[in-house]
Amino acid sequence: MDILITEALTRRYGSLVAVDRLDLRIAPGERRAVIGPNGAGKTTLLDMLAGAIRPSGGRVRFDGRDITGYGPARRARLGIGRIHQRPAAWASLTTLDNVAVAGARHRGGVRQSRRPAVELLDRLGLADLAGVEAGRLSHGQLRQLEIAMALAGEPRLLLLDEPAAGLSPVEFERLAEVLRDLPSEVTLLLVEHRLDLVYALADVVTVLRDGQYVVTGTPDEIRVSHAVRQAYSGAVA
Ligand SMILES: Nc1ncnc2c1ncn2[C@@H]1O[C@H](COP(=O)(O)OP(=O)(O)OP(=O)(O)O)[C@@H](O)[C@H]1O
Ligand SMILES: [Mg+2]
Repeated sequence: MDILITEALTRRYGSLVAVDRLDLRIAPGERRAVIGPNGAGKTTLLDMLAGAIRPSGGRVRFDGRDITGYGPARRARLGIGRIHQRPAAWASLTTLDNVAVAGARHRGGVRQSRRPAVELLDRLGLADLAGVEAGRLSHGQLRQLEIAMALAGEPRLLLLDEPAAGLSPVEFERLAEVLRDLPSEVTLLLVEHRLDLVYALADVVTVLRDGQYVVTGTPDEIRVSHAVRQAYSGAVA
């Protein structure tokens, strides 16, 4: 059974259709990338999946359940985690506390030992920054922190909005490794302009343009697809 299904999922802003009747089916453990030029509707799609914005039409099903009317907190509790296009953390909390709080929030506010949070920071290369306030981190470090925070919630579906944006080459390699090493049962939905990361990680790639579905295929199919070249032609990507 598919873990995530969208049915005619639509979001309008006035006369602009940011996402137009999108049907997606994603299998458990799948690594799905969604690509497309600026303004294709990728972030709008993730916002609707995370419950941050309401669709104008259509449905979202997660793990057999219709979650269209669920808010973000309820979706997070079901196991939907996300990383924003602009990284977000509590600026006045330390790096470690941000991860610990994110983990505790997932467990309904129950605080646990700091061990899992310390281990996550280590995996993301942030161990040396555990005691530093998040407000003092660089953009790249903040991005790694947000990934640690999302993983602290032990998501079953992880929505990633341009996780590689603004990373240094070293940070990029670490991110690719962390995502590659996620447990195979975690489903990934990766929105990314860095096609090297997309092709390194994704099993299946879906292309959008101007809110419209263009095509879905394997990385090899997408790489040579005429439709994809057309979708990007004349667009700034
Ligand atoms: N709050 C909003 N109000 C009005 N229009 C919006 C709003 N949010 C998004 N849009 C429009 O919806 C369309 C899709 O935007 P979206 O941010 O989803 O694109 P994207 O694929 O994530 O682009 P990018 O690659 O630049 O991040 C764009 O035309 C955008 O201007
Ligand atoms: Mg976006």
